[in-house]
Amino acid sequence: MSKQTIGALVLAAGKGTRMCSDRPKVLHEILGEPMLRYVLDAAEQAGLSALTVIGHGAEMVREAFPECNSSFVLQEQQLGTGHALQCAWADVKARGFERVLVVNGDTPLVSADRIASLAQASAQADVAFLTVSLDDPGSFGRVVRNDDGTVAAIVEARDFDPKVHGEVNGEINAGIYSLKVEAVEPLLDLLSDNNASGEFYITDLVGLAVERGMRVEAVEGGRDMTLLGVNCPSELVDAEELLRDRIVRSFLDSGVIVRHPAQAVIGPRVSIEGGCEIVAPVQMVGSTTIGRGAVVGPNCWIKDSTVAAGAEIRPFSHLEQAEVGPECQIGPYARLRPGAVTEQGARVGNFVEMKKARLREGAKANHLTYLGDADVGPGANIGAGTITCNYDGVNKHQTVIGEQAFIGSNTALVAPVTVGRNALVGAGSVITKNVEDDNVALTRAKQKAFTRRK
Ligand code: UD1
Ligand code: MG
Repeated sequence: MSKQTIGALVLAAGKGTRMCSDRPKVLHEILGEPMLRYVLDAAEQAGLSALTVIGHGAEMVREAFPECNSSFVLQEQQLGTGHALQCAWADVKARGFERVLVVNGDTPLVSADRIASLAQASAQADVAFLTVSLDDPGSFGRVVRNDDGTVAAIVEARDFDPKVHGEVNGEINAGIYSLKVEAVEPLLDLLSDNNASGEFYITDLVGLAVERGMRVEAVEGGRDMTLLGVNCPSELVDAEELLRDRIVRSFLDSGVIVRHPAQAVIGPRVSIEGGCEIVAPVQMVGSTTIGRGAVVGPNCWIKDSTVAAGAEIRPFSHLEQAEVGPECQIGPYARLRPGAVTEQGARVGNFVEMKKARLREGAKANHLTYLGDADVGPGANIGAGTITCNYDGVNKHQTVIGEQAFIGSNTALVAPVTVGRNALVGAGSVITKNVEDDNVALTRAKQKAFTRRK
């Protein structure tokens, strides 16, 4: 028997009214990544190609996921999860999917294993769905079972009436379904919005399939809280906390010392090699890599940056799209903005800001300095209070400082300008012309002395 063609369909068109925000719900972030990213990654890791239904804030979603443009399906009006499925059906068929795994886009912690195991467990089913057992089913869809334990229907919280539906336990619908395309097709037109929300529910497929004697299976996920949907701020931060703890624990298990782990926020795309020491509170997000033996002190914020082996990031430093070389010492209170690069052994001290600037091997900028659009040669020393004046109000210009140059304190380097190798700039200078190699440049006024008048 040939293997079924299985695809994924992510439902991400809803407004997310309970988030009370203008942003589409699936763009709300968990550990610095939009919720939808997690679901798409899980589908991909499960080996499924995914279509995604978007609608509310579709342009914002497209912008956040430009790589997915060919796999978006538009649900212009958001008339419910069942309507989202109806809108995507032609695309599901066009892709040749024989089975489709439908995943709510607001279920960010679902793992690839869960999706893959549902696909496997439901190989023979017409309609299958994952369930979670809770003490209190809250606002989730309730799983209604017959006396013999077989599934009868999913009934939404707002429509549930124990007098009509009977008593239920805390088993709820996780919002992850496995649908046999051929079997479900005739049911789509039977969905109705005659319910408490006035929406077309995907969950009604279950009751409809049962009534027609189709094969329906509830795949029990036990008490796995990672399967719960995120609908409001408190569920968002609960999900974030679950994932945060899981990530920090896995670093601890892989030989990274994370001190005060409850206050360490580390995103899913951060990699930290063994032998590192991270002192929380700390935030490391985006695509960030910390090399072997590096130390990150407390109160640092690091995003999309690389910190090489043996480097030390001292407390209260901010790094974004920065590259810190091996054995560098950064901070305390350093700010490395996009394009800041420090090569082997370079030092950046307190209240130093770098942007599109490179400190080559062993160069130092230890105090109160701004280096923007600059290239600082190996071993050069940048004195306290040095400013590269890189912006003339219209354009940005480059400052180049040669190897072993010495820039005296409180110097303004008015770009474009080059200071040669081994040159020395006297403290308090405003440098507007290039300084030759091995030269001394001094622009400050001569000191005068006379008796003070009383
Ligand atoms: C849904 C289920 C509920 C389940 C819960 C699990 C329905 C009717 N109910 O409820 O049984 O327990 O998930 O988390 O499905 N969406 C669209 N288009 C729409 C409406 C929603 O794409 O018109 C998307 C949303 O963006 C969201 C997902 O579908 O990602 C689920 O919608 P949501 O409104 O969160 O449904 P719940 O009330 O959580
Ligand atoms: Mg939801």
